[in-house]
Amino acid sequence: MSVEHAGAVAPHEHGRVPGERHATGYDEQTRARLAADAAQIVARYPQARSALLPMLHLVQAEDGYVSPRGIAFCAATLGITTAEVSAVATFYTQYKRHPNGTYTVGVCTNTLCAIMGGDAIWEELSEHLGIGHDETTQDGAVTLERVECNAACDYAPVVMVNWEFFDNQTPASAVEIVDRLVEGEPVAPTRGAASVCTFKEMSRVLAGFPDGRADEGVGAGEATLRGTVLAKQRGWTAPSFDADERAAASGATHGEPAAGDEQSSADRPVTTPADASPAGEQRKQKSDDAKES
Ligand code: FES
Repeated sequence: MSVEHAGAVAPHEHGRVPGERHATGYDEQTRARLAADAAQIVARYPQARSALLPMLHLVQAEDGYVSPRGIAFCAATLGITTAEVSAVATFYTQYKRHPNGTYTVGVCTNTLCAIMGGDAIWEELSEHLGIGHDETTQDGAVTLERVECNAACDYAPVVMVNWEFFDNQTPASAVEIVDRLVEGEPVAPTRGAASVCTFKEMSRVLAGFPDGRADEGVGAGEATLRGTVLAKQRGWTAPSFDADERAAASGATHGEPAAGDEQSSADRPVTTPADASPAGEQRKQKSDDAKES
């Protein structure tokens, strides 16, 4: 299938298709395969340009990063400029601008993980591998990253390998993981899938082509479910969110916010002339200032 059949390319006024002159970086066979995948991705959206994020993952699945030819391919397929594609690709940290390792090892150094040992894990791995943030080992096996909170704080400190969870890590256990990855030995996350896949395989899943492994293993573990279990045991239920009921309980009269509720500034009582007419007050202030000067 040609790129044009991906259903998106519209010539500009000057007759040139955006991205067209750059879209020659893949051999014919690869380009045809990518175009077929791209057509499936684009078909999920009412507007072709909305497909850019999964398209960038598709490019990473092919090239291991958002390559110049991948950028051109996205632009040509979606009818946007290469500058627009680059602007998006540089905004999100999941998109790599240089060849990535087979495994992205992300150490969470956000607040909770950091104080639970994430900083120590980072220091150990960085020294052990001889690389810093967003750098890759010479054999191309591991790219090391500091990552922000992965919503797994209940298992802090957390290490991710290609976005699979390795919970409750220590510097020693993290070193063992990367050593196994470098040696090409199988590595199993502590939750989720039974094994970690490669960066390219993961990227293809993120592009929207499932590998059928989403339901492997345990998702929410014991620590995550602890609150729910306790609530059930003790008969706790969530408080009502009925606004009138909450207002009555707090003693507020109808229409007033209850303590702790949000209040729109439009509902706030007028307390100064500027509240009543901010623009009028500003004009009056300017006029007064002019008279005084
Ligand atoms: S702070 Fe590390 S997972 Fe939330």
